[in-house]
Amino acid sequence: MPDTIVILNGPNLNLLGTREPDIYGATTLSDIEASCRAHAEKIGVAVDFRQSNVEGELVNWVQQAKDTAIAIVINAAAYTHTSVALHDALKASGLPVVELHLSNVYKRESFRHKSFISSVADGVMCGFGAYGYVMAIDAARHIATTRTEKT
Ligand code: DQA
Repeated sequence: MPDTIVILNGPNLNLLGTREPDIYGATTLSDIEASCRAHAEKIGVAVDFRQSNVEGELVNWVQQAKDTAIAIVINAAAYTHTSVALHDALKASGLPVVELHLSNVYKRESFRHKSFISSVADGVMCGFGAYGYVMAIDAARHIATTRTEKT
């Protein structure tokens, strides 16, 4: 069984493709999932790709990842800017965390400049659109491998 990277997507990301395409592009979440799966297969990892509009469900998935995954990639969407619960869950997981956003949040409204995820993430990636997911898989795998080698 290959190592698994959990990729979590927060609220409204199920609307990708039709939601503000000038900001988020025309790619749907299923397209993104397909490119993640293709890339994961190429580099020999598995991906567990999920989306929820419900904060508590995302928290549950972070908690479960502790036992099933080597790393978490999370686009918490709007919960990035509000969720102490996700901050606490990610911290408690002890797993490598890559925070991801399709858009460059720093070029946008100031309320998007505050993240409750960044301080518990190993790294933050934003502004690369759908391609960011592929980059994040590589980054998460790299961090997990490096961390394992150290211990
Ligand atoms: C987002 C940026 C967030 O500010 C926003 O609430 C989202 C998507 C992104 O991927 O660019 O829903 O996380």
